[in-house]
Order: sequence, then C-alpha cells, then structure tokens
Amino acid sequence: MNTPASLTEPSSDRRLMDSIYRRQRHIYDLSRRYYLLGRDRLVAELKPPAGGSVLEIGCGTGRNLIAAAAAYPQARFFGLDLSEEMLKTARAALARHRLSHAVDIAAADAVDFEPLRLFGVPVFSRIFFSYTLSMIPPWERAIAHAWKQVAPGGQLFIVDFGQSEALPPPFRAVLWWWLAKFHVAPRAALHHVLAEMAREERADLDFTPLYGGYAWYAVLTRPAAAAPRPAPDGRETFPPFAAT
Ligand SMILES: C[S@@+](CC[C@H](N)C(=O)[O-])C[C@H]1O[C@@H](n2cnc3c(N)ncnc32)[C@H](O)[C@@H]1O
Repeated sequence: MNTPASLTEPSSDRRLMDSIYRRQRHIYDLSRRYYLLGRDRLVAELKPPAGGSVLEIGCGTGRNLIAAAAAYPQARFFGLDLSEEMLKTARAALARHRLSHAVDIAAADAVDFEPLRLFGVPVFSRIFFSYTLSMIPPWERAIAHAWKQVAPGGQLFIVDFGQSEALPPPFRAVLWWWLAKFHVAPRAALHHVLAEMAREERADLDFTPLYGGYAWYAVLTRPAAAAPRPAPDGRETFPPFAAT
C-alpha cells in the first residue's frame, strides 16, 4: 500500500524552518547568545522533581536542553522541533556533551505532536517554549496543545520576545523590522491568552516582563491532582498521572 504524500513530504512550515536554519544553524548558538534573553533564567527555574520529565517544544540546536540536562541529572529530557536541519545540530551537540543518553529528540510539530508515540511519555512535569511561539503562526493552538500534556502539579514555561513596551519606540521598530526577516512576530496577546487559560483551568499564572518588555517570561502551574477520594466500594481512587 502506498503511503499518502501528506504523511511523507515535509509540510510548507517545515520547509520554511529548514530553509531559515539550513545555514543559520552553524552560527545559531553564537549569534543568539546575546539577544535571546531570559533563557538561562528559565533553565534555572525549571527545577523538575527527581525522576521528572521535561519537554522543550522547538528545541532548535538543543542549547537549553543541554544546560538543563547538566543542571538536573535526576530528570529525563525530551525535545521536538519542526526543522530536521536544527535537529542535526542538536544531535551533534548532545553527542559532544555526552548527553545523548539523557535527552531524546524528535521531529514533530508543536500543534499536533503525540508524546506517547514520539517518546513513550504520556505527560510531562515541565514543558517549555523558548523563543518558539513567535515563529509559530497558530501559536495559541500550540500553547493549548502543550498544556494538555502538562501533568497535574506540573508547569508550562514560556520565554519569548515581548512588546518592548518600556523601551524607546525607535528601538522596537528596528527590532521588529529585523525579526520579521526571520519570520519572527512577537505575540502581543500572549499575556491575555495565558490569563484566560489560567482562569479557565484554575491554574496559577506568573507573568514577568524582562528588560523593559524586550522579553516576556511566563510560568503557568497546573493545580496538583486532587487528593484521593474514597470510591463507593470504600477503595481509594487516584488520579491517572502523577507529576513526575
Ligand atoms: C528561534 S528558534 C529557538 C530555539 C531554542 N528554543 C532556543 O531557545 O534557542 C525557534 C525554533 O522553533 C522551531 N519551530 C518553528 N515552528 C515550529 C513548530 N510548528 N513546531 C516545532 N518547532 C517549531 C524552529 O525550527 C526553531 O528551531
């Protein structure tokens, strides 16, 4: 039986990411070091529980996963990215740091990835997006899909370009003109969307503008699983997943 072309051919989104990063990936870590701000703070605040699982969506060259796997050797790490080109660099970097055993990476789309099929993991204690939502046109869908994979008591972290709200307007104009060349669009509605989610899901939202709004940093915490309740037959029932 022939496999449908839609399952074998790269999507236009993936072709676009591959075309942006085919050459950029070689200078990515060096060139982004000084302007993708807030990433180190995110890694420092991840603090997964022992035996926990951490997923980066849009992991790129693996830079954040490498830092996180080194900082939290007791956790398991996973990364996905739409661009196979970026993943080539990530695989090489993981091997160089001798972390291939600790970090599992795969090609997938943020809006419809299946964690069980990709990694054999149903939910994660921590999921993060670092400078990825600004490159995903259906970014709200990506957040909603990620949130479904956060375990009870788990957390979703986001760091990305903000609205540069406290910086001089000409700075913002030049920055956005330049970012647009890389198909990057800061998401003005990010705070609003996360606040709505937090309200609907009874989650806790911590939203912090960094460096005059150059970057926005958010942490959404899912409530812990409800305490076990006695079933009618007297046995205790537990929620299906723990935040590990
Ligand atoms: C600016 S890079 C950020 C890489 C890394 N997170 C970091 O902080 O250095 C954005 C990454 O998002 C990936 N990406 C874009 N759209 C995606 C999608 N729909 N699903 C998964 N990854 C995506 C790109 O291929 C790229 O590697």
